[in-house]
Amino acid sequence: MKAMYSIPELQEMLVEQLNKEAGLIGKTQPINLYQPIEYTLHMGGKRLRPVMLLMACDLFGGDVNVALQAALAVEVFHNFTLLHDDIMDKAEIRRNQPAVHKKYNENVAILSGDAMSIMAYQYLLKTEHSAIQQVAQLFSRTAMEVCEGQQYDMDFENQANVSIEDYLEMIRLKTAALIAGALKMGALLADAPEADAERIYRFGIKLGLAFQLQDDLLDVFADQAKFGKKIGGDILSNKKTFLLLKALEIASPEQRAELEHWINKTDFDPQEKVAAVKKVYIKLNLQEISSQKSDEYYQAALHELQAIELENNRKAPLLLLAKTIMEREH
Ligand code: IPE
Ligand code: IPE
Ligand code: MG
Ligand code: MG
Ligand code: MG
Repeated sequence: MKAMYSIPELQEMLVEQLNKEAGLIGKTQPINLYQPIEYTLHMGGKRLRPVMLLMACDLFGGDVNVALQAALAVEVFHNFTLLHDDIMDKAEIRRNQPAVHKKYNENVAILSGDAMSIMAYQYLLKTEHSAIQQVAQLFSRTAMEVCEGQQYDMDFENQANVSIEDYLEMIRLKTAALIAGALKMGALLADAPEADAERIYRFGIKLGLAFQLQDDLLDVFADQAKFGKKIGGDILSNKKTFLLLKALEIASPEQRAELEHWINKTDFDPQEKVAAVKKVYIKLNLQEISSQKSDEYYQAALHELQAIELENNRKAPLLLLAKTIMEREH
């Protein structure tokens, strides 16, 4: 099999193409539809999903240049979900900059987001590969799963009896499916054996669960300047995160009453609520418990990767990326 690209090489390839596209988009009329898209695509972000797609393609000996359009599709789709997610979560800061609905307005964020979801398909359909039909079906199913996960996420804000199992299924849909889908798309575009394409998908699901568990933890405990999103947003909107559900499970009666008091309170000082809930989390050692849970999924993800019958040195870049993700601060 041919030599592989390094992670920085793939990142550079992706970012160069993405910046080029963003520049063109920003010059298109009507400006109020397209400029927010350029703004979003130029705002940075870790570019994890498209790079993972390219890495999976490279792993199985495919041509990353053929997979590049699909990688763009995945990143544009992901960025679209962020535009709408920030409206739904009332989040005003993203990547240390004003969210689109704050910089422009909500209507702009809705419609530019819609346009981005369509654009994602336009990129995808530029792919010249015999598996395009299968890749497009996978992409569509994945996109629908993200919507399903988002709906559960919103439903759970107002639902009292959410279990940890419900939470895990919700994050599988809203987050893990896109990571897994991106990886499998890369594998399909490299004509990987079906069993391996499934393994890389399962690797992505488990890594995606670990990733969202981390995201929820960082939402409370990260350094805001590094994280780039406002700390405590999940607490303020009563997100049924692993942290909250586990806290409710292991809390003393007094601690549970304290948490429930804040969940049910409609009129509160935001800083006070975040501080109070965070204090209970700290007392219950939830940083540690949540990291352990995340690490369990990370280890399970590594097992899936091990099961793929390729030389270890071919898997090294994906292993490294997974490790980097687990150590992230943003
Ligand atoms: C944010 O994803 C949404 C989640 C699924 C937690 P990322 O953390 O990958 O966001 P960017 O693209 O790097 O900003
Ligand atoms: C991300 O969930 C899921 C999406 C599909 C956007 P979050 O709501 O936790 O993502 P952030 O924290 O705003 O990036
Ligand atoms: Mg959000
Ligand atoms: Mg959300
Ligand atoms: Mg979050």
